[in-house]
Amino acid sequence: MRGRGSTLLPLLRTLTSRQGHAEAAVATRASSVSLTTTSESTSDSAGREVGKGPLRGFALPQFWESRAQRQAHRSLNSASALEDQCLSVPVPYVDIESLIGDEKNCIWQRIRHIVQAEVPSLTRSAEYFFQPGVEGKRVRSSALLLVASALSDGEMGDPSKSALYLKPDLRPYSQYPEEVRRKQQRIAEITEMIHVATLLHDDVLDDAETRRGLNSVNKMFGNKTAILGGDFLLAKASVALAALRNTEVLILMATVIENLVTGEMMQSRSSQDERMSLDYYYRKTFLKTASLIANSCKSAALLGNHSDEVAQLASDYGYHLGMSFQLVDDVLDFVGSSSSLGKPTLSDLKSGIATAPVLFASQEEPQLVDLTLRKFKYEGDVDMASRLVAKTSGVKKTMEVAEMHASKAIKAVDSFPPARGKYAEVCRDALRHLANSVVTRRT
Ligand code: FPP
Ligand code: MG
Repeated sequence: MRGRGSTLLPLLRTLTSRQGHAEAAVATRASSVSLTTTSESTSDSAGREVGKGPLRGFALPQFWESRAQRQAHRSLNSASALEDQCLSVPVPYVDIESLIGDEKNCIWQRIRHIVQAEVPSLTRSAEYFFQPGVEGKRVRSSALLLVASALSDGEMGDPSKSALYLKPDLRPYSQYPEEVRRKQQRIAEITEMIHVATLLHDDVLDDAETRRGLNSVNKMFGNKTAILGGDFLLAKASVALAALRNTEVLILMATVIENLVTGEMMQSRSSQDERMSLDYYYRKTFLKTASLIANSCKSAALLGNHSDEVAQLASDYGYHLGMSFQLVDDVLDFVGSSSSLGKPTLSDLKSGIATAPVLFASQEEPQLVDLTLRKFKYEGDVDMASRLVAKTSGVKKTMEVAEMHASKAIKAVDSFPPARGKYAEVCRDALRHLANSVVTRRT
């Protein structure tokens, strides 16, 4: 199957050149400029890292990201280093839905079954985004189910064995699922419930009117019901986690919830230095998006009884996929269309938030620093910022970082232990394809 696809970098260029929007066209024309980020740093007298880039003296909080994550971003400080990061091997095409579409539908049926509450309005808000047709991209559950299969002996590829797992599991949480695949399906269920809970809360915080092409839950039922619907989903996810009786997995997934809250708070309450810092942005992106994907993939590996080393590779895949996903999301907020995204564009600027395209662009258009520091709050600021970003290579550089993460996700798959059969190989190709499709998506 490998060899039928194309490489990541040309696909990225095709994506930006295919955008109908002026921003993308400008970004595509932009020359290759070496990347100098604020992650270039030294230590201050208290041992904290202090940036040497455009924001000299920026002090990083002590809980900063891991050495490995930091290294990944530091190595982007030159164009040649960036080229080294880019994948030159072909990426296969795999029809992911034919591999796991039925299984995901079973998981969604189970979720709809278990979110029935005593109070109808709670059920309505909790089940809203689990209705057929509004499931979203389901990237999180796809990644973890494919990781589980890529590391397995291929039972899901054998119809005589997989039939058992392709019936919806409607057992109550009091019945412990002995089968490894059922436990992994539970992690997919938990992951999606946590994800949708964050969306319900996020739309209240952002005062959003639409999501996935529908009215948001807060718009439909009001803020209180949206918040309580999110809480209800989190409560259900907590019960599901406890029912798995695996303390390590429980700690991982509970930490994800802590990370999500921390990331959201970092986004909404930042100092002026933090607002202009790429390091701060990357850390927030890990907490808000990549942590859930990384830790759910890791949990699936641990529930599959794999070693810590293999679980770490599963986590690496999820981490890089998640970072790439969010970077592309932030690009699409500039160059996408609201009809294909199902939510308004330029929403980050309108919320006063500078994402990677702005942060990179501000290195070429210093006016963006002032606009960012005042959170684009004066009339015309959002339009001006969007036009300035379009004049720079901000979108292009962001896509290059997204692509670097996608290629690292693929490298994590390449490092998995030898596949136990053809089906596991196909699922590895599906993981590679998923990483590629995250950077080439338009929705
Ligand atoms: C979407 O971000 C939001 C998130 C990825 C996480 C939001 C986290 C919280 C609201 C706090 C934690 C809540 C719970 C229930 C644990 P976005 O606004 O950048 O993206 P969007 O364009 O899709 O709205
Ligand atoms: Mg939002």
